[in-house]
Amino acid sequence: MNKVLVARKAFPDIVERLRAHFEVEDNPDDAVWTRPQLIERLQDKAGAFTTGSERIDAEVLVACPALKAVCNMAVGYNNIDVAACTARGIVVTNTPDVLTETTADFGFALMMAAARRIAESERYLRSGAWSKWHYDQFASPDVHGTTLGILGMGRIGQAIARRGALGFGMQVIYHNRSRLAPQTEAEVKARYVDKATLLGEADHLVLVVPYSPASHHAIGAAELASMKPSATLTNIARGGVVDDAALAEALKAGRIAAAGLDVFEGEPKVHAGLLDVPNIVLTPHIASSSITTRRAMASLAVDNLIAALGQGPQAGAPPTPVNPEVLRTR
Ligand code: GLV
Repeated sequence: MNKVLVARKAFPDIVERLRAHFEVEDNPDDAVWTRPQLIERLQDKAGAFTTGSERIDAEVLVACPALKAVCNMAVGYNNIDVAACTARGIVVTNTPDVLTETTADFGFALMMAAARRIAESERYLRSGAWSKWHYDQFASPDVHGTTLGILGMGRIGQAIARRGALGFGMQVIYHNRSRLAPQTEAEVKARYVDKATLLGEADHLVLVVPYSPASHHAIGAAELASMKPSATLTNIARGGVVDDAALAEALKAGRIAAAGLDVFEGEPKVHAGLLDVPNIVLTPHIASSSITTRRAMASLAVDNLIAALGQGPQAGAPPTPVNPEVLRTR
């Protein structure tokens, strides 16, 4: 029987399905292992159920020669060195589709909370400072009818575009590595623009671009300076897409109106400057966290692991591989 590692706690009833096929070492206390602790546990395993918190890089792979499958419970997989996995014949899987609508809901909510100053005004109310109604109290930019900018136009970006265009009468502009097919652009009612136009025209800019060296600090001081002073920025992509220090400065200086962040550089640490500014909404990387969706993600990661290691009804054909070329050479 192959051995697998479940690196973090994830819905015990779902993880239980692995036990019919494998010898399972799991993490019922949900400890966050150090790298040496992770390597120690992974070195004799054929498969791993991981989350975005475990870094699976070349050093880990060298130490874990039995590894054949890394199944991430996340759509993003920047925590995994996919090229190094492919070179070693290790299949990598992620959890696309099942989280698209839930994550888009959250992105939209975070954008609205930032724009309409919901967190800021709630903190004010809780502080006991509210003594009277005031004509421009927490007056904010509007959301409906404004221009929604989206950086990164994959499945989640498109789901956010639909919400903006169809639900809120927004004009949607986007920038992406590749332009959508005309039919898809028409369906999500979004117009392709270059990055400078996106930054200059968006009233509300939402980031949904995968993290890679190419998207590192895609929004830094220069980009923030080119946005409208009344604009908001929402990041549900990955920490590192935004230069958090530059964002804290821009918010303090009033270069943009507000921000909503669900992801942070070096999370779970949060840049101290962001904690100091009032016009920001901060959430702990929970955009996909509805009960239904997180269960669906765990279930898909388990299905992937079972199939990637040649078990179950989809043996040899995991449903959502990131590097399917590995499967063809097996
Ligand atoms: C969450 O951030 C994910 O990539 O699923």
